[in-house]
Amino acid sequence: MIHSVGNHLRRGLASVFSGRISRKSVSHTEDIGDTMADNKRYRNPTEVQMSQLVLPCHTNHRGELSVGQLLKWIDTTACLSAERHAGCPCVTASMDDIYFEHTISVGQVVNIKAKVNRAFNSSMEVGIQVVSEDLCSEKQWSVCKALATFVAHRELSKVKLKQVTPLTEEEKTEHGVAAERRRMRLVYADTIKDLLARCAIQDDLDSKDYSNMVPAEKTRVESVELVLPPHANHQGNTFGGQIMAWMENVATIAASRLCRAHPTLKAIEMFHFRGPSQVGDRLVFKAIVNNAFKHSMEVGVCVEAYRQEAETQRRHINSAFMTFVVLDEDDQPQKLPWICPQPGEGERRYREASARKKIRLDRKYIVSCKQAEVPLSVPWDPSNQVYLSYNNVSSLKTLVAKDNWTLSSEISQVRLYTLEEDKFLSFHLEMVVHVDAAQAFLLLSDLRRRPEWDKHYRSVELVQQVDEDDTIYHVISPSLSGNSKPQDFVILASRRKPCDNGDPYVIALRSVTLPTHCETPEYQRGETLCSGFCLWSEGDQLTKVSYYNQATPGLLNYVTTNVAGLSSEFYNTFKACEHFLLDNRNDLAPGLQTL
Ligand code: COA
Ligand code: ADP
Repeated sequence: MIHSVGNHLRRGLASVFSGRISRKSVSHTEDIGDTMADNKRYRNPTEVQMSQLVLPCHTNHRGELSVGQLLKWIDTTACLSAERHAGCPCVTASMDDIYFEHTISVGQVVNIKAKVNRAFNSSMEVGIQVVSEDLCSEKQWSVCKALATFVAHRELSKVKLKQVTPLTEEEKTEHGVAAERRRMRLVYADTIKDLLARCAIQDDLDSKDYSNMVPAEKTRVESVELVLPPHANHQGNTFGGQIMAWMENVATIAASRLCRAHPTLKAIEMFHFRGPSQVGDRLVFKAIVNNAFKHSMEVGVCVEAYRQEAETQRRHINSAFMTFVVLDEDDQPQKLPWICPQPGEGERRYREASARKKIRLDRKYIVSCKQAEVPLSVPWDPSNQVYLSYNNVSSLKTLVAKDNWTLSSEISQVRLYTLEEDKFLSFHLEMVVHVDAAQAFLLLSDLRRRPEWDKHYRSVELVQQVDEDDTIYHVISPSLSGNSKPQDFVILASRRKPCDNGDPYVIALRSVTLPTHCETPEYQRGETLCSGFCLWSEGDQLTKVSYYNQATPGLLNYVTTNVAGLSSEFYNTFKACEHFLLDNRNDLAPGLQTL
């Protein structure tokens, strides 16, 4: 079983709504047969749509829909979708990064669709898609995609939400990847804190021409809002979208004070509503430009709440960081003035804004992985570790959720499936083994044991134990053809236990590059883009073991020979894997007993 070489990085996040529903993906699901028979009629039961005509009262000075208004509509649509699933009131817990691709003009229509991707315990991930529509030309543009987490609240008891059952390929992908996104979200604050502490920030403050700088103090804004019934739900909790709209308002004022023009909001960084606020609360919003780069600036906003009777007891509700640009008539970003931060806190925020910019780029680059722009192997370093690990697992889950896998052959209950896509031929092998799933997971996630059953792994060295679930290995593999050099791989293995009943154990493998393990003349550097194992518990001491691999033209010959039945290497290797699992079913994999 060999790793695949590819030219493009896989799509890490499937589109929130592909709109494509395959008959094949649901043909096995009897109870929805009728509904699904007509593809057009299928609609996710949690889907909620909102359409709004953009009127002058919704727009800014440029005649464009204000992002604050859009955030209110997004939050309302998403909240209604969450409540449809939960059957009880829900509050916004967090909003992931949002990148705005287009502005929306007065007279156009905004179409918002939201649906629950996955429910966990009391929280749900809601996927939102925003499209603008020009009624005269019938053109449509994608404006942004957003992912929000809502938490369900019942007054007397803790909520345990019912699970979402994904039916279409797109729903299955989102469902699988949502668990990985949740993992990343919950450690987000710590990750950022850690990265900021670790980032050696070299600023250019000393070398700058201070005469051409705007003092950051000039951009400082403070504003207060009284939460009234129209700003809250029927339980009196302030709508998250309303708070976001107020935040955007003060951030825009701060940004305008730097550029003395009308700025455009390009991105909002992931944030978390730390605590609730209610009708009657006073909310204080504070904003300042933390740093200005050549064509963009970061504005930070912080929100505190207090009651009239206890003004000194302020609760920190939220902090967010927004990126603004100033566009000229051709929609090109204009050059911005430099900012001169206040000594102390201001300089700290200035430096942290630079570090956040790097983190933001890393995250956008790796998490959303625009295929053609990204090299196959991404350099590993501590600042992108969380995102690479996310990308590794979500790529595999996306491959697993594909609905057009076809059974190519079956020999002695080992099934070989293939998936033909534009640029990739993928395969997966599947068998049921009489071994406990957790044990199989332990044995297979320790790549050092793979040479015991896979002759394509001649030797394996553990390079770095990144954390409990992520490990980097250096693998040496014999050459594929007689006269070429042996290959070597630097592989990040990310393993995940199931999040819910029915989830598989996942061991995802992808290549990374490491400065300590550069290419050497001795070996030909091989790369794997997306491969790994999924293990489903099928009962006591019974596990369905699946190995997935996305092969690309470099390895086509090897794969097609097996797929066409001209070689039984796949089969033999997988059978050897079965024997390895059976022989070691009572072992604990060395070094992994802590699981
Ligand atoms: N992003 C996403 N979900 C988060 C989160 C974050 N940053 N922090 C916590 N959660 C989820 C948890 O995973 C948990 O989900 P689960 O039940 O499915 O496992 C759920 O929130 C509850 O977590 P818990 O640890 O019990 O509670 P908490 O003390 O962290 O509270 C909130 C989480 C969201 C309920 C709480 O911070 C809150 O009330 N925030 C204000 C919400 C609000 O009023 N929003 C509207 C605007 S003010
Ligand atoms: P941090 O200071 O670490 O960035 P905070 O949550 O305190 O985190 O604040 C978030 C952002 O809100 C700051 O980066 C800053 O841009 C803005 N902010 C905080 N306090 C003020 C203030 N007193 N006046 C203006 N803006 C503020």
